[in-house]
Amino acid sequence: MDDIFLDIHRCMPRQGPGNNDLTRRALTLAGTLPPKAAILDIGCGPGMQSLCLAEEMPDSRIFALDNHEVFLKELEQKIHEQKLGNRVQTINASMLAPPFEKEHFDILWSEGAIYIMGFENGLRLWNPLLKPEGILAVSELSWIRHERPAEISAYWEEQYPGMQHISGNIAVIEKTGYRLCGLFVFPVEAWYTHYYNPLLKRLDELKNRYIGIADFDTVVQMEKTEIAMLKQYSDYYNYVFYIMRKN
Ligand SMILES: C[S@@+](CC[C@H](N)C(=O)[O-])C[C@H]1O[C@@H](n2cnc3c(N)ncnc32)[C@H](O)[C@@H]1O
Repeated sequence: MDDIFLDIHRCMPRQGPGNNDLTRRALTLAGTLPPKAAILDIGCGPGMQSLCLAEEMPDSRIFALDNHEVFLKELEQKIHEQKLGNRVQTINASMLAPPFEKEHFDILWSEGAIYIMGFENGLRLWNPLLKPEGILAVSELSWIRHERPAEISAYWEEQYPGMQHISGNIAVIEKTGYRLCGLFVFPVEAWYTHYYNPLLKRLDELKNRYIGIADFDTVVQMEKTEIAMLKQYSDYYNYVFYIMRKN
């Protein structure tokens, strides 16, 4: 099943919702940026946001960390094409134990990946990597309304039980040694352009290769259910970008 999932998810521009405008908007909300920033992009996937950060901060040095080699290879190809090898470096490591010294980074960035360890765990575990006043920007699946229909509550309770309302995540930010600089909710199209639309195309391309393979049908069903849920219930949840500074 994991192999099929990875095969479906390769050759896509992103592995989650987002786009460069949103990455730039998050960067703007962080306020004054250090001139020669050391940046760690955690759970970088194929690295759209790593390359956007490199473009926006021309004197920065970016470490793009992920534990799936297939995505890192895709990013390395783009780094090569864009001649960014002296500024953007991939790291195959776990986000649970990033191999860096304390206070090594000016900026920690993580789009659509902190859910893997949970919002609070991620904020706590990554805190020591940041210099004082360092920036942490994370996008996280969040409830945007307190009351919601039973169907969507039950769906996300099963898929991501740790998902919180925006207010809950703000409380976590404040109790884990950061202060909020700003936040914003993603526009719904940010799920489709670089993620769901390429994913649906990929499912269509692969269907003949996996004829009669039950695990493929299971993954297709899972992906299509997730997309149908967003279509019906995007008033109730979405990705939210949280931008904060370490106290
Ligand atoms: C939803 S994707 C987001 C990728 C990318 N930030 C984007 O928005 O396109 C989550 C990423 O986290 C990576 N990942 C999963 N578990 C990980 C771990 N324990 N350590 C590091 N990366 C991990 C996956 O390989 C995947 O690339």
